[in-house]
Amino acid sequence: MSKFFALIPAAGSGARMGNELPKQYLSLNNRPMIYHAIYTLCQSQAIAGVFVVLAPSDNEWFKYDWSEFSEKLVMLSCGGLTRADSVLNGLTTAKQKDLVETDDWILVHDAARPCLTSIQLNKLINELATDDVGGLLAVPVADTLKRSNIDNRVTHTESRENLWQAQTPQMFRFDLLTQALRSATSINVTDDASAVEALGFQPKLVTGDAYNFKVTYPQDLALAELILQKRNNS
Ligand code: CTP
Ligand code: MG
Repeated sequence: MSKFFALIPAAGSGARMGNELPKQYLSLNNRPMIYHAIYTLCQSQAIAGVFVVLAPSDNEWFKYDWSEFSEKLVMLSCGGLTRADSVLNGLTTAKQKDLVETDDWILVHDAARPCLTSIQLNKLINELATDDVGGLLAVPVADTLKRSNIDNRVTHTESRENLWQAQTPQMFRFDLLTQALRSATSINVTDDASAVEALGFQPKLVTGDAYNFKVTYPQDLALAELILQKRNNS
């Protein structure tokens, strides 16, 4: 029986956040931001292990106590220059350490999405566990979309029909994801699904919710804090 593993790429610097500390360590509800994603993934009975991929130069990780997650949490210091490199390096290292099999499912989840819920996670796993390709959480685009010229003048309004915002987790089998990311070096891959798409596959979109947004800019941190606090109080 193939197993389910989570892999959290956490080797970015958070340039758009504008803080010297990489954003995955910024304080969110008295924890480093990455704690929240680790907690939700480690809590899942369906998930056998959680790999966190850090930058080799990362010293911040060791300032916190992660022992509550015991052996279910595995730290890999093999992050790369891009997110795709970090994910691929993490997969390769986990395989070298004999921690995964080629037909296991891998759920790649951004360290910077702290508001993932167990409900969304289970929905993704249940909808894709028997799928031939795999897929991702995503939400239909709600806003009207404008295309601009270089002067920020609207050239036309794009249809939002069948347009989705991709989120994570993105769930693919180890062998397909590894093959996709290996072939993806020359294309602009900002998520795992686009690497799989480039091989000609059609990942399934599983409807998620807007709470699972990515903390990218400073104002996103305040929003994430409100969401987590509201959950803790209800
Ligand atoms: N990531 C990674 N390795 C990289 C770049 C990004 O593991 N070389 C991770 C980030 O740590 C984050 C996830 O990929 O968990 C999503 O990336 P993003 O939100 O773009 O984070 P950063 O790259 O850190 O932020 P920025 O693009 O603003 O610098
Ligand atoms: Mg980035």
